[in-house]
Amino acid sequence: MAPRPQDDPDAFAVRLETEGVVVLPGHPFRLTPEEADLVSPHFSDGRAKNISLGPDGAVRGATPDPAAQRRLAALMSRYRGWAESTIQAAAPRYAATLERGRTSLRTREVADGNPSRRKDDRRLHIDAFASQPTGGRRILRMFTNINPDGEARHWHVGEPFEAHARRWAGQLRAPWPGEAWVLRRLGITRAVRTLYDALMLGLHDAAKLDDAYQRDAPRREAAFEAGASWLVFTDSVVHAAVRGRFMLEQTFYLPPQAMAAPETAPARILERITGRTLT
Ligand code: SIN
Ligand code: FE
Repeated sequence: MAPRPQDDPDAFAVRLETEGVVVLPGHPFRLTPEEADLVSPHFSDGRAKNISLGPDGAVRGATPDPAAQRRLAALMSRYRGWAESTIQAAAPRYAATLERGRTSLRTREVADGNPSRRKDDRRLHIDAFASQPTGGRRILRMFTNINPDGEARHWHVGEPFEAHARRWAGQLRAPWPGEAWVLRRLGITRAVRTLYDALMLGLHDAAKLDDAYQRDAPRREAAFEAGASWLVFTDSVVHAAVRGRFMLEQTFYLPPQAMAAPETAPARILERITGRTLT
């Protein structure tokens, strides 16, 4: 269903917040012929997982060649602008407070990785960033499969957030007094890690490190065809990347106050489960 803000300006936001994953109709973002050669492992620095663009305009993970870096930055910033205006048009209530995070160009085959269990996005998880606490803001990501050979990107999508959180909530470690301050002072986190962020990181790690959960947890398969774009609240959708190659991704942060159904925010759900104020 195409977003039709003229009927109910909040219809798309409600759907995204309650369903968690929304595939946009058609192939709404297309590479230009001049950009096509950038879809290649050739421009990686050989170490970083992805090539990425910060909101400040700095490129990371790319070859040092300045001309290539300029072209990569131009592609990622065009993608960022497209993702932002698409969200603003579909969910006007997000427009005023939607905040840009990083943009990434992912050229690795997902199935080939051999990272540690904690870093392995092929294991079911919700997104929570160790160095980047959100303080309760939502993590909203736009993804586009730019595979030039027509290959889909395959994910698994797991149980609803509340069921997921209830599995682990009782056994998560509370931070020791002063921990958030020390992490911030040492530069390990870029903002103070709130109790919310500590619990979310705890959920992320608990799920990824549990082999029995990874084997037995409920899930459905989702295939995103080449050319498709999809939007996901990755902090509440339990997900795992299974296989696929070549993708653009844009991260945004959104304060829960901007949501149409704020009671579905992970912060509110965790507050209900723990009985504590978290942010
Ligand atoms: C993730 O967000 O966990 C990975 C998504 C992907 O690479 O498709
Ligand atoms: Fe993830």
